[in-house]
Amino acid sequence: MGQVQGKVALVTGAAAGIGAAIATTLGREGATVVLTDLDDRRGEATAEAIRAAGGQALYLHQDVTEEGRWAEVVGEVDKQYGRLDVLVANAGIAIMGPLLEMSLADWRRQTAVNIDGVFLTVKHGIPLMRKSGQGGSIVMISSVAGLRGSANLAGYSATKGAVRLFAKSVALECAGARDDIRCNSVHPGIIDTEIWDKMPAGAADSRRNAPIDARAIAEGSVPTGKLGTAQDIANGVLYLASDASRYVTGSELVIDSGLMAGRVGNLAAR
Ligand SMILES: NC(=O)c1ccc[n+]([C@@H]2O[C@H](COP(=O)([O-])OP(=O)(O)OC[C@H]3O[C@@H](n4cnc5c(N)ncnc54)[C@H](O)[C@@H]3O)[C@@H](O)[C@H]2O)c1
Repeated sequence: MGQVQGKVALVTGAAAGIGAAIATTLGREGATVVLTDLDDRRGEATAEAIRAAGGQALYLHQDVTEEGRWAEVVGEVDKQYGRLDVLVANAGIAIMGPLLEMSLADWRRQTAVNIDGVFLTVKHGIPLMRKSGQGGSIVMISSVAGLRGSANLAGYSATKGAVRLFAKSVALECAGARDDIRCNSVHPGIIDTEIWDKMPAGAADSRRNAPIDARAIAEGSVPTGKLGTAQDIANGVLYLASDASRYVTGSELVIDSGLMAGRVGNLAAR
């Protein structure tokens, strides 16, 4: 018996990285998984890998910023399965660089995917979740950048901070409606995915035109020195998606190997 046996889950940005690990993990644990993404080739391949392992998965093309497509995607989930139990708002982009060099177009692109996309996820997903009358779990992928400021990631940090409070507000609206729908945010630390490769060389430090090296960033900033994996995040999402977390809503799950806890080092010794 899987931990999310019989549930229907929708995961956005599920073709690669953290989203693919979440979809694969939920599929392995018995959920029927609907994966959506812009990248059809990899999205189909991830869905096929879930099916090949004995799970149930369906891939649908989707840009999370397009409201018309949201109605179609949720309509398709309703037609095929008649219910929705788990909703994971994972799709996100990170635009790194000095704030004053960020164009308004880039600012808007980032807020469109990272905030508008999350808003549309719940706006269109909750009505189908409510239809079954059996509640559900919404998980929003924020970031440690949503818990504290980040130089050269100011726009990204703003979007992830917004998601943190949006999740709490959604949790409270659902609690008030007594619909048994829970909503929580997840805050990954430095995780080994392609999101880092998509950032331009020198974006982290304009004095050095080096490509972004997530492992080096983790070694320099994470107390344990460890770079996280997408599976580390998927494990936390599995808990929030499952009934094991039935009393958890409006909360934050930080998965960062100690990054938010503080700095290693004995100040008294200095
Ligand atoms: N990797 C990290 O270190 C890290 C840390 C904190 C938070 N996060 C967050 O985790 C989430 C997943 O990031 P990742 O590291 O797996 O990134 P990734 O770039 O590896 O994967 C993101 C996926 O989202 C898809 N996507 C992008 N824009 C989309 C859109 N408009 N509509 C639908 N799909 C879209 C991409 O095609 C891709 O498959 C993001 O919200 C990110 O901000 C990542």
